Amino acid sequence: MVKEKILVIGASGQIGVELTIALRKIYGNANVIASDLREQNPLLEGTGPYVSLDVMNKEMLHVQVIRQNVTQIYLLAAILSATGEKNPNLAWNLNMQGLLNVLDIAREEKLHKVYWPSSIAVFGPTSPKINCPQQTIIEPITVYGISKYAGEFWCNYFHQRFNVDVRSLRYPGLISYKSAPGGGTTDYAIEIYQQALEEKKYECFLSEDTYLPMMYMPDAIKATIELMEAPAEKISVRTSYNISSMSFSPKEIAESIKQHIPAFKISFKSDYRQNIANSWPQSIDDTVAQKDWNWKPEYDLDKMTEDMLLNLKL
Ligand code: NAD
Ligand code: SER
Repeated sequence: MVKEKILVIGASGQIGVELTIALRKIYGNANVIASDLREQNPLLEGTGPYVSLDVMNKEMLHVQVIRQNVTQIYLLAAILSATGEKNPNLAWNLNMQGLLNVLDIAREEKLHKVYWPSSIAVFGPTSPKINCPQQTIIEPITVYGISKYAGEFWCNYFHQRFNVDVRSLRYPGLISYKSAPGGGTTDYAIEIYQQALEEKKYECFLSEDTYLPMMYMPDAIKATIELMEAPAEKISVRTSYNISSMSFSPKEIAESIKQHIPAFKISFKSDYRQNIANSWPQSIDDTVAQKDWNWKPEYDLDKMTEDMLLNLKL
C-alpha cells in the first residue's frame, strides 16, 4: 500500500474537525496534518500534528507540502454563503485563490489526490427545484455559488490538462454537533437543536416552508471518504458530484424535535438568507454518485434528530 501523508486545510472548521479525526483513524494520527488560520480546535488537541497555515500564502503552503512530504490535500478553507454576501470580495479571493494555490502545488509536486468541496449553492433560481440533476441549468446568484461553480471548472481543467486527481462533492446543508457552523444559510438547522434544548424555543431566519437539501455529518464524512477511496476509473465526474440524503423545511424539523421535546416552540422571521435559500433547489438527484461509487446515505430526519439531541445533551 502506498504511504499517504495528508494535509487538511481548514481543519478547525465544521467539517474539518470531524474529517481530520476520521482520516486519522484510517491513515494513522501522524500521517494526517491538521492546519488552519485559526488556532487548533480543542477536539483535535492530542490527536495528531497541527500547523498554523494561511492557504493564501502559496509559498508557505508549498514549503509545508515539501517539508512534510504531503501526498494528498483536503482543502476545506472557504467563506460560506451568508458570510460571503457580507464581504463578496473576500469570499471570491479566498474561495478562488485558495483553490488555485492548492491545484498548482498539486500539479508541481505530483500529489496523489486533492479533495475540494463544492455546494448545492452552485444552483440558482433557474435550476430545477425538485430532484435537481447532475447536469442542468446553473446560474448561481450568490458570490459563494459563483466561486463554487468556477472552482468546479478549475478542478475539471486541472484534471483534464495536468492529470491532477482532484475530486469533489456538492454538499447539501450539513448538520453536526461537534464543531460550530461557519456562516451558511443552512445553519438554522444546527441552531434549532441547540436552542430547543437550552430555551425550548427558536426564532428561525427562514420561513416555515423553505425546503432545502440537508445531510447529517456522519453521512458527509462517509461520502467524502468513499469518493476519495474509489478507484480513479470509477470517477466520471471531474467537476463535482451531486449527493443527496434528506430534504426538510423548518416546520418539519421542528415537528421532529417536538417528538422529543413536546414544549418546543418555533417562530419565523426571515432575513437576507431567505433570498439565498429561495434560489436553491429543494431536493437533489444523485443517481450518478450512486452508480459510480455506490453512494447511499444512512440518516433520515428523525434518526438525525434523535442522535443530535442525544449528543448535545452530553
Ligand atoms: P467552516 O467555516 O466551518 O471552516 C472553514 C475553516 O477554514 C475555518 O476553520 C477557517 O478558520 C479556515 N480558514 C479560513 N480562511 C483560511 C485561510 N486563509 N487559510 C487556512 N484556513 C482558513 O466551513 P465548513 O462548513 O467546515 O466548510 C468546509 C468546506 O465545505 C467549504 O469549502 C464549504 O464551502 C464546503 N461546504 C460546507 C457546507 C456546510 O453546510 N458546512 C455545505 C456545502 C459545502
Ligand atoms: N451550508 C452551506 C451554506 O449554507 C451550503 O454550501 O452556505
